[in-house]
Amino acid sequence: MTQQVRGVVARSKGAPVSLETILVPDPGPGEALVKIEACGVCHTDLHYREGGISEDFPFLLGHEAAGVVEAVGAGVTDVAPGDFVILNWRAVCGACRACLRGRPWYCFNTHNAKQKMTLADGTELSPALGIGAFAEKTLVAAGQCTKVDPAASPAVAGLLGCGVMAGIGAAINTGNVGRGDTVAVIGCGGVGAAAVAGSSLAGAARIIAVDIDDRKLDTAKKLGATHTVNSRQADPVEAVRELTGGFGADVVIEAVGRPETYRQAFYARDLAGTVVLVGVPTPEMKLELPLLDVFGRGGALKSSWYGDCLPSRDFPMLIDLHLQGRLPLDAFVTETIALDEVEKAFERMHHGDVLRSVVVL
Ligand code: APR
Ligand code: ZN
Ligand code: ZN
Repeated sequence: MTQQVRGVVARSKGAPVSLETILVPDPGPGEALVKIEACGVCHTDLHYREGGISEDFPFLLGHEAAGVVEAVGAGVTDVAPGDFVILNWRAVCGACRACLRGRPWYCFNTHNAKQKMTLADGTELSPALGIGAFAEKTLVAAGQCTKVDPAASPAVAGLLGCGVMAGIGAAINTGNVGRGDTVAVIGCGGVGAAAVAGSSLAGAARIIAVDIDDRKLDTAKKLGATHTVNSRQADPVEAVRELTGGFGADVVIEAVGRPETYRQAFYARDLAGTVVLVGVPTPEMKLELPLLDVFGRGGALKSSWYGDCLPSRDFPMLIDLHLQGRLPLDAFVTETIALDEVEKAFERMHHGDVLRSVVVL
């Protein structure tokens, strides 16, 4: 039976979001209906509202979420009603070339729920990143649900569904940060701060946090940064070199997404070091580098997509580590808000004093 719930909708380009009645159908084959308990506010939601990702308005926003499965459709065996789950962007197929080669984060045939949620007048909604979790309930493909230990708080668990996973994964999956490594993280917003936490978890001996905002550097320290550099006050490449006996870091993680910070990341790495790009550039951005510097320094230049994560492996593992006190995920939750405060949270994002605002239902 179709249910009526409340959800946060972006109706048209640039317009403030509104809290609307939405209609959610019963789960069809391979689908799950999830009662949302918490959902973080991410830049990508704002980007949807501004029409920067697609023109398929209206959007049901929200995608960093955790909740409890309420019902499943035919053929669903991996999750069951009552399971506490974290949602991921797309269920992978398990059969394409990327999946078969063990890189499911590049799956060609990802899927979301086929049935559509609608506004009360029947207008179809496009769920942000195939999720749409600023809502009391949402409909997803069952493969988008990963069961985790219900002892974790929903606000913290939901964050693993996007930005925090992207950052931790950039360190532990893409960058392969290891015990004793020196890591530099350029940009310590939600994603970069998570890269600091991931590096600390992986046993890095030195973690150099770089940002232009001292408040972000303070948070980075709480998450394991051993050194901080304000790049408004000091050249970050020189500072990293100085802190590493003139060499550079084993792994440099760029979490801003601008040409100048990409360049800094490139030059802050040690010979044979690894650069991980997790900040997302715009289509116009270009980076010019002398080829001799690429050749002469060796190492690897990698990009990280969704933290190169495997939700079925990484979500439960990171929740377990958090519950054991080894991953202080609470530090990412700056404030908890209600569903009707998402627009306000978008405004706060610009002021830079928030790692994550999290809607708690
Ligand atoms: N040098 C260093 N830090 C900078 C600079 C700079 N030139 N410019 C901005 N920053 C810092 C900001 O102060 C902020 O702390 O980068 C951080 C960006 O953080 P957020 O705006 O919170 O963004 P976040 O959610 O962390 O995402 C960062 O990763 O996944 C991508 O799309 C995402 O490109 C974005 C990036
Ligand atoms: Zn696939
Ligand atoms: Zn996100």
